[in-house]
Amino acid sequence: MSQFWSKKAKEAKPYVPGEQPAETDVIKLNTNENPYPPSPMTLEAMHRAINSDLRRYPSPTVTELKNIIAAREKVAPSNVFVGNGSDEVLAFAFQAFFEPNKPIKFPETTYSFYPVYANLYDIPFQKVPLNTDFSIDVENLYDSVGGVIFPNPNAPTGLALRLGAIERILQQNTNQVVIVDEAYVEFGAETAVKLTELYPNLLVTRTLSKSHALAGIRLGYAIGNEVLIEGLERIKNSFNSYTINRVSLAGAEAAFKDEVYYSTTINQVKQTREWTSEALRSLNFEVIDSTANFLFVKPNMNAKFLYESLKERGIYVRYFNESKIDGYIRISIGTDAEMEQLVEQIKRIISS
Ligand SMILES: Cc1ncc(COP(=O)(O)O)c(C=O)c1O
Repeated sequence: MSQFWSKKAKEAKPYVPGEQPAETDVIKLNTNENPYPPSPMTLEAMHRAINSDLRRYPSPTVTELKNIIAAREKVAPSNVFVGNGSDEVLAFAFQAFFEPNKPIKFPETTYSFYPVYANLYDIPFQKVPLNTDFSIDVENLYDSVGGVIFPNPNAPTGLALRLGAIERILQQNTNQVVIVDEAYVEFGAETAVKLTELYPNLLVTRTLSKSHALAGIRLGYAIGNEVLIEGLERIKNSFNSYTINRVSLAGAEAAFKDEVYYSTTINQVKQTREWTSEALRSLNFEVIDSTANFLFVKPNMNAKFLYESLKERGIYVRYFNESKIDGYIRISIGTDAEMEQLVEQIKRIISS
C-alpha cells in the first residue's frame, strides 16, 4: 500500500526508540527514565484534573505553566515555550530556525533524533567528530552555515561542556541559532539558561521526562530570547493549537511546586550512579564520568553479547549498532536494588 505514501513518508528514516517491553517484571535501564515515581503531589494533581472539564480544550497559551517555569528559571514568561515532550520542542525548533540548503552541525555521536528531524524537514547536516575521549570538540561546532544543536550533557556519553565552551560556540555562530538540549542537565551539568539573556541566538531545551520522572506525560520546554520563542509559537500554532493536554498541564504545574521531592530523588540517582560506576570499574569496565542519569560503558567483553545476555536475564540496557560506539552499552541509572542486580548478573555473565 506504500503507493499511497507521500514522498516524505517514503523517504522518512524514523527514530527507533529503546525497547518498551510488555512484561513488568524486567529491570528497565534502557531509556533513561527516572527509577522513582512522580511525587504524590504531582499524581494527586493529575487525578484531580480528571474531571468534567476534560470536555473543554486545554489552554492554548499554557500561561500558568509558563509563569511557573519563568519564575523557576528567573526569566520572563515571554522567554518560555512549552511542548509535548522536548522531542516536540526540538521538532518545532528545527522548523522554526533551520533551513533547507543551510547545513547545520551536530556531534557525530549524539542524540539520534537530530538526523531524523533534519531528514524530515530537508535540512542538510554535518556530523562533527568528537575528541578521542568522547568529549565534544568545541571548535568543530564553530562557523556553522545553518545552526548548531548538541545535548549538554551529551547523550549517550554523559559528558558535559562548561559554560565557557558553550559561550565560545555561541560567539562563533552569531548569525545562526544554537540549540543546547538540556534533557539531562539536572543530574550534574551547568545550565546555559543564564546565557539566553546575553545571546539572542541561544535556545535551551528541557524536559520533565528525566529529572521529574514524568516521561509518561510528555512535557518539555524551551527558554530563549522572546523572538525565538515567538518563532516556536508560530510553528506550533500552525500545527496544533492545544499540544499540552489538561492532565499533563496539571501534573507539570504540581511537579514544579514540589522541588524538594525531586531534588531528593535526583540526588539519590546521582549517588547510585557513583557507586555503580565504581562497581563496574572494579570489573575492568571502562566507565565514562557521567553528569547524566546514565552510564556509557565499555565492558571487558563484546558489548552486544553483554546487552543480549542481560536481556535474557530480564535486564534491558541500550546497545547502539553504530560505528565508533558499538563497543559500548548505555545503562540508565535505576534504584540501588536494580543496580545491585545489574552488577550481580554481570558478574555471573563474566564467570560463565
Ligand atoms: C538528548 C535528549 N534530548 C531529548 C530527549 C527527549 O525527551 P522528551 O521528548 O521525553 O522530553 C531525549 C530522550 O531520551 C534525549 O536523550
